[in-house]
Amino acid sequence: MTLALTLLTVLVALVVLAGWWIRRCNLATRPSPLASRVAPGCDLGQQLLMANSADGPTQPGQRATRRGPTRRAFLRNSMAGAWLVTLGGFGGATLAYLWPDLRGGFGAELDLGTQDEILSEIEEQNAPFEDPAGRTYVIEYDPDLDPDGSYADITGGAPLMALFWTCPHLGCRVPFCESSQWFECPCHQSRYNRWGEWTGGPAPRGMDRFPLEVTDDGRVIVDTSEIIDGPSRAAAVLDQPPEGASCL
Ligand code: FES
Repeated sequence: MTLALTLLTVLVALVVLAGWWIRRCNLATRPSPLASRVAPGCDLGQQLLMANSADGPTQPGQRATRRGPTRRAFLRNSMAGAWLVTLGGFGGATLAYLWPDLRGGFGAELDLGTQDEILSEIEEQNAPFEDPAGRTYVIEYDPDLDPDGSYADITGGAPLMALFWTCPHLGCRVPFCESSQWFECPCHQSRYNRWGEWTGGPAPRGMDRFPLEVTDDGRVIVDTSEIIDGPSRAAAVLDQPPEGASCL
């Protein structure tokens, strides 16, 4: 959005500058008392007028007096060009916003550190590991508590699982509540257990996930280009009642 605002500001400034220049140079084909004088910096405007004129100039500083772009036509064309550039700028900015950030932000494969580091931070904080750039929570996942292997494919055999921190209801960020050890959405009170499974509220399913894998040298890679729909409301692999007071 910053890029789009910058582009818009520059374009507005260019349009204002063009209007000032057209006015200053008195770019019109009507004869005027100033016709014999060409203000400094107005040569280009004069040449543009002459190029579109049937007669063209016969003397330096002379204006065409027959057909050619009027000031109104010149302004109209300038405005049309400015609008085209503005729309192009917005289109480019939107694409840039939506395009996966290959430098390591949301939409890319992210290296979040080693498995040992992440596990020890989860244990120390008694809360999920957070990666704001990837809008990701990494939680501890115990395959023994998932005998049917419901989440085995997205955890790649690792004792970790990656959750998308955006609420599947209407898109708020879902914070983790340390006292209840649940994720609790402040917008409409949807709640999810520690594994991001739905436990209440208007959300249509559990929290969405990202595929995660651990490399041979122990680094945790989360692919935020692929958002996997969270489990249905009926899924309740982890049996975890709230462990304390709610944060809502
Ligand atoms: S956005 Fe989370 S419950 Fe509505």
